[in-house]
Amino acid sequence: MKKIYLHPLPVRIWHWVNAISFIVLIVTGLQIRYREILGLMKFREAVDIHNIFGFILIFNFFIWLVFYIVSGKIKIYIPPLNLKKFVMGSLKQARYYGYGILMGEPNPHHSTPDNKFNPMQQMAYLAIMLLLIPLQLLSGLLLWDAKRFSDFISLAGGIKIVDTVHVFLFLFFMSFLFVHIYLATLGHTATAHIKAMFTGYEELEEEHGH
Ligand code: HEM
Repeated sequence: MKKIYLHPLPVRIWHWVNAISFIVLIVTGLQIRYREILGLMKFREAVDIHNIFGFILIFNFFIWLVFYIVSGKIKIYIPPLNLKKFVMGSLKQARYYGYGILMGEPNPHHSTPDNKFNPMQQMAYLAIMLLLIPLQLLSGLLLWDAKRFSDFISLAGGIKIVDTVHVFLFLFFMSFLFVHIYLATLGHTATAHIKAMFTGYEELEEEHGH
């Protein structure tokens, strides 16, 4: 087994604070929305916890942003600008997940610290980190104090629009989580990638020439 240092400490801290916060926000969000059906906690408690973790998520996002911008590593998130390279790389990766993996073929992408993500990950993670999470945080912030932010809410098209954006993004993140966790189990063992997100080190099987 060869070990490669893939996830620097700030990324690991960001990732797990992010994951825990998302889960807490999903549970409390559901409790807020379905207060009559779910009896996990009092409505007020659900709102308070949702707000606290919303602010933790906002603060945490800046850990990710500052780390990636200051270190210059943000480029690992940028998909190949050559369209052909991007499309072919994505197709190769999709073929692997849909077929190659079932035939015992090796993963066509070999992660290194400077080329960590395959093109599908780059596209998904870039959209999530620079568009969808910021939009979710912003819509949440506006809904947190709708009176204070009433001018911004009007600018965005009214509270119904802001609320719809927040709920649609919730649906997206729910679906993302299922796919993300499934893909996270596809290392050389089911827990290899997940362990690496804790230790920083990804273990590679050398016989595959990684
Ligand atoms: C309990 C749930 C989660 C598990 C088990 C998990 C697992 C993992 C693992 C194993 C990796 C490293 C492999 C890779 O880079 O793809 C990773 C990376 C990543 N995950 Fe998660 N994740 C979870 C929740 C989330 C959530 C909720 C989000 C965002 C909404 C997220 C966003 C990301 C991003 C952006 C990366 C790349 C980080 C980087 O290296 O810069 N994850 N996750």
